[in-house]
Amino acid sequence: MNSADLAAPVLPVKVPALRQMKADGTRIVASTAYDSTFGSLLDRCGVDVILVGDSLGMVVQGARNTLSVSMEAMVHHTRAAAGGVKRALLVADMPFASYPDPTTAFRNAARLIAEGYASMVKLEGDGHVFESIRYLCEREIPVCAHLGLTPQSVHRFGGFRLQGKSDEGAERIRCAALAAESAGAEMLVLECVPSALAAEVTASVKIPVIGIGAGLACDGQILVSYDLLGLSSGRRPRFVKNFLTGRDSADAAVKAYVEEVRNGLFPNADHSY
Ligand code: KIV
Repeated sequence: MNSADLAAPVLPVKVPALRQMKADGTRIVASTAYDSTFGSLLDRCGVDVILVGDSLGMVVQGARNTLSVSMEAMVHHTRAAAGGVKRALLVADMPFASYPDPTTAFRNAARLIAEGYASMVKLEGDGHVFESIRYLCEREIPVCAHLGLTPQSVHRFGGFRLQGKSDEGAERIRCAALAAESAGAEMLVLECVPSALAAEVTASVKIPVIGIGAGLACDGQILVSYDLLGLSSGRRPRFVKNFLTGRDSADAAVKAYVEEVRNGLFPNADHSY
């Protein structure tokens, strides 16, 4: 037996571990994958949560926003990413218009779990979405809520803009986070909100809050893999950091991202609002 055989087994990240990580103060590292090569890259470098995001529409399919991504595409890419993942928790996005009511949401979410091999699905928004979150959670489908800048609301927002700046907007996000938790959500992604608001929301719920453009006080961070490897073109949002700069491999870049998130070095004030 060599020393590698004696090494502690690398345990898979399961849904109940998420709350425990928050309780223990272990920062959760998340990123996105759309195929098995990226799934495997993120997984072997220590990313805890791998999201098959509907950012697929923009970074893989070349669309201007996420609205054209279909259920078929989400199932296809979730299953592809699953092929590369051994340890991380695999989460799949419910695409635009796939959860107009609880029963339709269940039918579509069940496909991402049964055909795509995801362990959790993510739904954007508030209001009627909480009914679907409750319906899925009561039927054994773990849910991640997504608040703040929800890209599927791009037309209502008039673009990809910072949310929760006004008192009214901030209060809506505070209330929505509590409602998502009480509907049964196991995790919350908070995108593009002021850091002070994200800190308040993070302290108000027991479920982990994963920030993107939401400051350092969140329980974890997510960054689109193409952004953290400097592969995305066009306007770069403030919260993006290219971890490949000064490094010579994708593995080194992802490991640096994992280390910086875990140690509270990313994001800093330059990446926050
Ligand atoms: O679709 C996606 O990649 C996302 C993350 C940016 C949170 O929703």
